[in-house]
Amino acid sequence: MTTINYVLHDGSVHSVDANNGDSVMIVAVRNDFEGILAECGGACSCATCHVHVAPEWIDKLPEMDDLEREMLDFAEDVDDFSRLSCQIKISDALEGLVVNVPEKQY
Ligand code: FES
Repeated sequence: MTTINYVLHDGSVHSVDANNGDSVMIVAVRNDFEGILAECGGACSCATCHVHVAPEWIDKLPEMDDLEREMLDFAEDVDDFSRLSCQIKISDALEGLVVNVPEKQY
């Protein structure tokens, strides 16, 4: 288990013990966190799982691939800390990861 911290738009912090191998997106969906739609179910084809990774974590994540980079063009408010949460696989290395969930997806 790896603890992932979701900061929702209202400022509330939800720390979840997640299974390694799951995605940051699927854990958010299972916990009914508003702000993650995940319309494509994790196929990297909708960009409605966009999150802003806490700055101290962005360089600790695996690099994003070209498909994720292209899909992020369809998200709103993209910045240097943006990732698609369906593409972040949980592992021991991400213990304590903090992601900021947008108010809504577009
Ligand atoms: Fe669709 Fe992540 S769930 S791109």
